[in-house]
Amino acid sequence: MKVGILTGGGDCPGLNAVIRAVVRKGVQEYGYGFVGFRDGWRGPLEGDTVPLDIPAVRGILPRGGTVLGSSRTNPLQHEHGIRRIRENLAKLGVEALITIGGEDTLGVATRLADEYGVPCVGVPKTIDNDLSATDYTFGFDTAVSIATEAIDRLHTTAESHMRVLVVEVMGRHAGWIALHSGLAGGANVILIPEQRFDTEQVCAWVTSRFRASYAPIVVVAEGAMPRDGDMVLKDETLDSYGHVRLSGVGEWLAKEIEKRTGKEARTTVLGHVQRGGTPSAFDRWLATRFGLHAVDCVRNGDFGKMVALRGTDIVRVPIAEATARLKTVDPKLYEEVGVFFG
Ligand code: F6P
Repeated sequence: MKVGILTGGGDCPGLNAVIRAVVRKGVQEYGYGFVGFRDGWRGPLEGDTVPLDIPAVRGILPRGGTVLGSSRTNPLQHEHGIRRIRENLAKLGVEALITIGGEDTLGVATRLADEYGVPCVGVPKTIDNDLSATDYTFGFDTAVSIATEAIDRLHTTAESHMRVLVVEVMGRHAGWIALHSGLAGGANVILIPEQRFDTEQVCAWVTSRFRASYAPIVVVAEGAMPRDGDMVLKDETLDSYGHVRLSGVGEWLAKEIEKRTGKEARTTVLGHVQRGGTPSAFDRWLATRFGLHAVDCVRNGDFGKMVALRGTDIVRVPIAEATARLKTVDPKLYEEVGVFFG
């Protein structure tokens, strides 16, 4: 049997670990052949492939990014997209497709599997950890470690100058990175997209921190929004997924803090550094296990399914379950960490 693999959407540490595990188990245990599709859905749409065998996956386990390349091409938005994919798969003799991606890539896989009978298996990835149906996605642990290290470093420079340091982390719709790195890094304020923040309250926390002779660290997710300011909304643009992109909440907040508290404030936007580089040991472990189970889904003809982590078990769930709604931060969890604010 010949199996295709693609990686779509934003890249994420651990993608190569999945590819390696799929190929190693598929070749060694089941005698499968593999073909890599370049740049997400663009590969099967245009028949753009790269050979994938055991030598091709040697040494890629600790490498960040994806050896297959990635894109946000959505075949459903292309004329005859489904027909072209079907024709290319048939031409190449590909009988199953392992799709590694987030909300958008897996959304396409669900429709291809459920509505058009294309045999797809899903593997969830995103540094944002906001996919339902899985306890964790790989890439998240790495992103949290990078953000935590940055916060640790910012504490010392903040203390030296007695300044406020606002750290903007990724997370358009969910505040998981902000919550975990903020807690691990001992932030004094954590702001997430799930709950609009009160700028006056943030300033009160900042002031109380200075009163205790400490310099405050404010961690803000890029999608967090103030209750009382429309300024961030004015900077709204659409990214290439068609998602609303709010630029500059960190910068905006630092300026407001300076204005309202009279304290000097600086902003650090961590950006893509959170997504690059080598995956953590946990992400390699999770990505590898996802890969091993994904190839078993193919073996069992279990299509339209996605592998997911439940506790310490890898389970199979309908891909649609992961894409139907985003997994956001539970208000109770956010309230729990509120004890450290101020
Ligand atoms: O979905 C993952 C993510 O890293 C988001 O947290 C972030 O908003 C987005 O991707 C950035 O995407 P791009 O690489 O297109 O700027």
